[in-house]
Amino acid sequence: MMGAKYLTKATNLAKHIISAVVQEGDTVIDATMGNGNDTLYLRKMVGNTGKVIAFDIQEKAIENTKKLLQSFHMADAVELIHDGHENMDLYVFQEVSAVMFNLGYLPKGDHHIVTKPDTTIIAIEKALSLLKRNGIITIAVYHGHEEGMIEKDQVLAYATTLDQNQFHVLRLDFINQKNNPPFLLVIEKK
Ligand SMILES: C[S@@+](CC[C@H](N)C(=O)[O-])C[C@H]1O[C@@H](n2cnc3c(N)ncnc32)[C@H](O)[C@@H]1O
Repeated sequence: MMGAKYLTKATNLAKHIISAVVQEGDTVIDATMGNGNDTLYLRKMVGNTGKVIAFDIQEKAIENTKKLLQSFHMADAVELIHDGHENMDLYVFQEVSAVMFNLGYLPKGDHHIVTKPDTTIIAIEKALSLLKRNGIITIAVYHGHEEGMIEKDQVLAYATTLDQNQFHVLRLDFINQKNNPPFLLVIEKK
């Protein structure tokens, strides 16, 4: 059941949607590891028999995520990859049921290191081809910063071109909030 807490922010909504799709034993991808919150959430969803493959370009993200997973005794069944998500096809060789993107910069980290439109779109394309039928991609889009605004426009332009015979593409917005609140894109493979 969806309760009010899922509607507090785009990332919570993403987790809720993920929980409806991902099952124990699945392989899933966290495309933007950051401090590891989504990686941990996905690891809980897939259990000991599944696999989470997580990417980040920052060593700090790998360190923080490793520590977080260890504190929950959940470092097994997770691959932490220090490389860009645009290269995910070099590391993932099986179909996945979900891919989470949380765009922007590492919270409490270097705000100059942000996801970039070109690589984000390559990564979404690759994620779509790795996705199994009825699998989903969630993309939390942060456009409060200048580069985020450009990325938002390009990601939306790309997402609107996806063939409706192959994908359901949904945008979830908090329409009564000020200051460019993050929104969520959800893509489901038919
Ligand atoms: C908003 S943060 C992610 C937050 C994270 N999901 C969490 O739960 O803490 C975005 C992350 O994307 C990372 N990033 C930027 N470009 C990337 C790329 N090409 N591939 C993978 N990660 C990237 C940044 O280093 C940053 O850690």
